[in-house]
Amino acid sequence: MKILFLNGPNLNLLGQRQPEVYGRTTLAEIETKVRKRATKLGATIDFRQSNQEGELVNWIQDARGKFDVIVLNAAAYTHTSVALRDAIAAVGIPTVEIHLSNVHAREEFRHKSMIAPVCAGQIIGFGVNSYLLGLDAAVNINVA
Ligand code: DQA
Repeated sequence: MKILFLNGPNLNLLGQRQPEVYGRTTLAEIETKVRKRATKLGATIDFRQSNQEGELVNWIQDARGKFDVIVLNAAAYTHTSVALRDAIAAVGIPTVEIHLSNVHAREEFRHKSMIAPVCAGQIIGFGVNSYLLGLDAAVNINVA
């Protein structure tokens, strides 16, 4: 199984960015943990980050025929991006929405996810484990 992990804006700053909210683990360290578990589960992953909405849209479009599942932390674009939502709907690749923080315990503008209705499900609020749980969800996406 091939799984595409996509990370949105400011997630390149994990480790330094608001550690009280997002913890002290860097995105590179998260990638290492995800890769290790993916190997154990027999999955292949690609792990990318962009601060640009259009680049994320392009990656989602290009995933068609190459990846079985997308695991997406769209970061701030979660709450604003019709373009990301449309891209997910257009390619029809099952997508798992993930967040490090519990967005529902934060500001009201974070309570709304533009992408949730076109995602298979959400994993929210487990810190770095949201990525590992996202991987588990991806691997088991077709299990009834
Ligand atoms: C986030 C939550 C978003 O509201 C925020 O804009 C982020 C990170 C998370 O992983 O908790 O950048 O997606």
